[in-house]
Amino acid sequence: MSSIAVVGAGYVGLTTAACLAHLGHDVACADIDAERVRRLAKGEIPILEEGLPALVAEGLEARRLSFVVGAATAAANAEFVFLCVPTPQGDDGAADLSVVEDVVREIAPVLEPGAVVVNKSTMPVGSTRLVERILGEAGAVVDHVGVASNPEFLREGTAVHDFLHPNRVVIGCEDAAVAVRVSDLYSNVHAPILVTDPASAEMIKYASNAFLATKISFINAVANLCEAVNADVREVALGMGYDARIGFEFLHPGPGYGGSCFPKDTAALLHTASSAGYDFSLLDGVVEVNRRQHERIVAKIRTAAGGALAGVPVGLWGLTFKANTDDLRDSPALAVAASLLDEGARLRAYDPVAGEEAGRRLPALDVVADPYEACRGARVLTVLTEWDEFRWLDFERVAETMEQAAVVDARNLLDPLAMRRRGFAYQGVGR
Ligand code: UDX
Repeated sequence: MSSIAVVGAGYVGLTTAACLAHLGHDVACADIDAERVRRLAKGEIPILEEGLPALVAEGLEARRLSFVVGAATAAANAEFVFLCVPTPQGDDGAADLSVVEDVVREIAPVLEPGAVVVNKSTMPVGSTRLVERILGEAGAVVDHVGVASNPEFLREGTAVHDFLHPNRVVIGCEDAAVAVRVSDLYSNVHAPILVTDPASAEMIKYASNAFLATKISFINAVANLCEAVNADVREVALGMGYDARIGFEFLHPGPGYGGSCFPKDTAALLHTASSAGYDFSLLDGVVEVNRRQHERIVAKIRTAAGGALAGVPVGLWGLTFKANTDDLRDSPALAVAASLLDEGARLRAYDPVAGEEAGRRLPALDVVADPYEACRGARVLTVLTEWDEFRWLDFERVAETMEQAAVVDARNLLDPLAMRRRGFAYQGVGR
């Protein structure tokens, strides 16, 4: 078993640290936020992620997991240092690597000979080399320090499961001995391990996310066409999905993809393509369909409201970028809310976990703690996130509290027939 430093205690870092400790390694997880570290050391988890509290508690109790302030503190005695820090989208669309660079400069002087730096954060092609170069400049004994790319494929909400039961583990490294050492960290995980060169490993991550984004934009475009020709996209996706080459997953139309990965990673890949002189017009189209999808949802709500939104009370269910997470980053629900507010709608919103934070981000949003309260007096109710609890509410009561029983279901969560039977004017996506 190895001693591992994980730098960054966000969604990726915390999951990586807790899972590596669960696999038997000794893990020190570092963050710059002292308050976050203090709370984590007491087992208080700042994010909603299924299974994570139990794994952190297990690691703390077994003393295989600790939390420290500062990357250098964690890296000083580590055989492996996992970089799990943010790589946000810069002004030009490229991934901003400044946090990565700062951390690498900080840890370089303290790394032991034989240590391996592992790029876990999503970093563009060339980043493994970049980290190597900065390590050298910042005084690491480069000949004795390895660098590998080991991208994460963790979905928020099921990140612990995805880490422990991955479809594959990808390791990008020029040095075969280093690659073997990194792959040994996963010896208790049953998955194909693909060892390749760093550029290919980095591209695998971007190409995977861009492909998934393409599937979503594709089905959203098909849904829009279904509306024009009176077909039902749910039936269409089902019929497509039986073809094993297509599959059922990622064919759910909605308000467009959001979250911390797809929007930023597609932009970064487009930037990589244009820097390399390749016109990736297919991916341009994917991003454009996604941008217009939330406008289509706004248009549906406007139509359901009678043609204009100024002064119209609208109820919103769901604010996170998808269900089972408290993450609001790049949430299509918030984008729709912002557009509705721009048109003068009066919004009352409910989300099971992220209402308060959403209210801080969009102060004009009236956030309430109860789904029925959100639709009281509303002319339109719109479902923006597919939280399961929305399926099981008392829709007779919902209809009674509303000014008119109209629902725009941006996630196709509800049953149109049942809703119409209850007297609702129902609008889904692509049906
Ligand atoms: C994603 C990738 O799945 C993961 O492998 C990667 O490492 C990080 O990014 P995540 O952002 O947590 O994970 O969410 P995901 O479940 O992939 O959904 C992304 C967005 O696409 C959400 O806004 C979701 O609502 C939307 N989506 C997903 C659809 O609109 N339709 C679908 O069929 C699937």
